[in-house]
Amino acid sequence: MSPPVTNYLGRLLHSSLCRPLAQYKRTFATTSHLNQASDSSSSATENTTRTVTLIPGDGIGPEISHSVQKIFEAAGVPLNWESVDVTPVKAANGKFQIPRKAIESVTRNRIGLKGPLATPVGKGHQSLNLALRKQFNLFANVRPCKTLEGYQTPYSNVDLVTIRENTEGEYSGIEHTIVPGVVQSIKLITEHASSRVAEYAFLYAKQHKREKVTAVHKANIMRLSDGLFLRCCRDTAERHPEVKFEEMYLDTVCLKMVQDPTLFDVLVMPNLYGDILSDLCAGLIGGLGLTPSGNIGEGGAAIFEAVHGTAPDIAGQDKANPTALLLSGVMMLRHLHMADKGEKIEKACFDTIKDGKVLTGDLGGKSKCSEYTAEICARIKNS
Ligand SMILES: NC(=O)c1ccc[n+]([C@@H]2O[C@H](COP(=O)([O-])OP(=O)(O)OC[C@H]3O[C@@H](n4cnc5c(N)ncnc54)[C@H](O)[C@@H]3O)[C@@H](O)[C@H]2O)c1
Repeated sequence: MSPPVTNYLGRLLHSSLCRPLAQYKRTFATTSHLNQASDSSSSATENTTRTVTLIPGDGIGPEISHSVQKIFEAAGVPLNWESVDVTPVKAANGKFQIPRKAIESVTRNRIGLKGPLATPVGKGHQSLNLALRKQFNLFANVRPCKTLEGYQTPYSNVDLVTIRENTEGEYSGIEHTIVPGVVQSIKLITEHASSRVAEYAFLYAKQHKREKVTAVHKANIMRLSDGLFLRCCRDTAERHPEVKFEEMYLDTVCLKMVQDPTLFDVLVMPNLYGDILSDLCAGLIGGLGLTPSGNIGEGGAAIFEAVHGTAPDIAGQDKANPTALLLSGVMMLRHLHMADKGEKIEKACFDTIKDGKVLTGDLGGKSKCSEYTAEICARIKNS
């Protein structure tokens, strides 16, 4: 039988998640720890060699990671890759945990690039993606979705960014059996986490010269939880009057998104809505194989990752499309103040897709992952 609810909530109330908002505001007022559209390390420049933790992941992960490493090498990006395995190990208490070496590497480097990780369904260890987010307090998941020139989808001119609260909501992991046959899952929303992600969304909008932030919610149904999230967004909007603010029900956003995605700019939302809506948005530009993402943490840690899974059906066959991980790497380079290198790589990648001659199967081509990689490398070297 699972422990009583009060134990869970008691633990949470004592966790840093629930520290008073006043404290959070103080921290924010005196540091730039949320201001992380770029690396907070002042020593980072175009030419400084940085060490980055690489989590190749499972399935197609090692293939696409290798592709990214080759392309970065062709572009002369000054990075040392520290490759770590995050396959869970059994701790003394019998629970599965991320290996200490992997945690130490990300803690030391504060920056990581991650391939997809397999998660067993309904059994075994907890989602490692979730564990990594919690371990490094990666509170905001940022996914830019922009139409790729030359790659046809039913939509054109898509250019939006979803910002998903990454640490709580329906993904708090608070589930228990009340009596056999009756289970309960708690959606946890805190003022601290909601204000933190809302603040990040407005800062992101300002830094990227975007005009509008839309808060996505269901506060008409979940009056307390989504109501709190929405109130935090409204309060944050008042502190950023130069960015337009609107609020919209999740279902309305879905309807309007598929009718006309150009209505949206930056969207901020609780965890589960963000999970679903960001995949929907990826579909507008051509799918998960093209969509990058970044998980931004407090204090400067960040892990960039492809949003697709391990693709077990094509793993080990040199068929995977490395674009999503590559573009996640480009996001990482911008974060590290290596935007020039990032743009060079991005251009070579976009030109390859626009040209249409060397494409992987998911993009309608016949080329292998290694051939697509070689084409991007050649374009970089000739640029
Ligand atoms: N961020 C992550 O680590 C992450 C995200 C989603 C799923 N997963 C895990 O991945 C495993 C498989 O999940 P799934 O099958 O639902 O989703 P998936 O994304 O792995 O695959 C869905 C479909 O998309 C294709 N696909 C995905 N990425 C591709 C790429 N880069 N190039 C070409 N085709 C690609 C696959 O071949 C498959 O047909 C599960 O264990 C799941 O938990 C991990």
